[in-house]
Amino acid sequence: MNPAANHHPHIKTALPGPKAQAMIARDAEVISPSYPRGYPFVMSHGRGTEVWDVDGNRFLDFAAGIAVCATGHCHPRVVKAVQDASSRFLHISSDFWHEDMVGLGERLAAIAPMDEPAMSFLCQSGTEAVEGALKLARYVTRRPRFIGFLGGFHGRTLGSLSFTSSKYTQQLGFATTLSGVTHVPYPNPYRPLFAGDDQGAAVLDYIRMLFQRSVPPSEVAAFLIEPMQGEGGYLTPPDGFLAGLRALCDEHGILLIFDEVQSGIGRTGKMFACEHWGVQPDILTSAKGLGSGLPIGAVIAKRSIMSQWKRGAHGNTYGGNPIACAAANATIDLVRDGLRDNAARVGAHFITRLRELQRDFPCIGEVRGKGLWIGMELVEDDANKTPATSLCDAVITRAFHNGLLLLACGTSTVRFMPPLNVSTDEIDEAMAIIRASLEQALAGG
Ligand SMILES: Cc1ncc(COP(=O)(O)O)c(C=O)c1O
Repeated sequence: MNPAANHHPHIKTALPGPKAQAMIARDAEVISPSYPRGYPFVMSHGRGTEVWDVDGNRFLDFAAGIAVCATGHCHPRVVKAVQDASSRFLHISSDFWHEDMVGLGERLAAIAPMDEPAMSFLCQSGTEAVEGALKLARYVTRRPRFIGFLGGFHGRTLGSLSFTSSKYTQQLGFATTLSGVTHVPYPNPYRPLFAGDDQGAAVLDYIRMLFQRSVPPSEVAAFLIEPMQGEGGYLTPPDGFLAGLRALCDEHGILLIFDEVQSGIGRTGKMFACEHWGVQPDILTSAKGLGSGLPIGAVIAKRSIMSQWKRGAHGNTYGGNPIACAAANATIDLVRDGLRDNAARVGAHFITRLRELQRDFPCIGEVRGKGLWIGMELVEDDANKTPATSLCDAVITRAFHNGLLLLACGTSTVRFMPPLNVSTDEIDEAMAIIRASLEQALAGG
């Protein structure tokens, strides 16, 4: 029996319903208009992959708070960990020590995709983790330059924003950002920029050319790269590319920073995406799924690197917050003990189902991904692959009206990032909505 069937019908009011409309009107008066909101979902509560709006409509959440709710909404073990921690103390500051913070450092060292021992710096968000990683790389190399990748998203504070390039609106109006950052293409076999079959090798050649002509490698502190690119389109790099980048780093004494804020903590069916290629970074950033929704970020680095930071070189007030750490500890345990494998298994089922759908819809140019990190790129025409941006927006809007929360990425990619404990029944329920939403969007509905 399909347990989700008990919850039909899903959508009981026109959307947004009356309570949602009232909330959105109040919000418009007092909350910044800068948030890039798409459709009017007003949350009431959630359990697992299901969420309800304030008017009592039920949705499947395949956006998971932008890939944050790794353990689903309100996982009982995470809620209990948060309740227990909050009954002890809410805050003490990173100037002092406590069990949940040390325990998180130990867990992160245990899961770090590094052969040597690792240390962590704790903060509240992805962008702060990236800032910390950049500062650490500069501090230990004393080199001024960095290389980032077009389409990358690393956050919106001024340092991380210097690398963020998935949409120009993120940079518009904020010039100038950090100097010394050079962007190079991210290899994309579906939309090749270079001649030849191996886009990864071509990008590496391009970087070598830069090193000869304009960017002295001896001045480069680090590469900052998402081992699987998120906001830029849910891209998977060609085999061999990350290993080639690692070799280039080793040749020139450049540090390799993997930004796994979105791809880490089991999302791709491995604890960290870089494990799919067996390539190790010097520094890794984590956030999003790490806290199951509690605000937390981490810079994880080889101990030989992070131990070079002198006392006072970097710090914050809230790093190691006990409640966020307790949520992260419960999350890591759940992901390590089952959810990562569920993501791999259920994700494989989901990709198979989407590829079946692709046969019926020529507008689905590519289905790509690993685990529960899946992109479905929509195109106008399969021959020239013109991005179908309006169709993508229409599919996402239709899906909302049909009871499925989705987000876009890249120029015309629907991304699927449900909680890691989503069931195959829920995937199948979502598939029916995705098919219907595609049909309606193509019919102009
Ligand atoms: C890869 C990556 N890095 C960094 C960030 C920034 O994280 P935050 O929004 O928590 O600052 C994001 C957010 O989407 C991200 O996807």
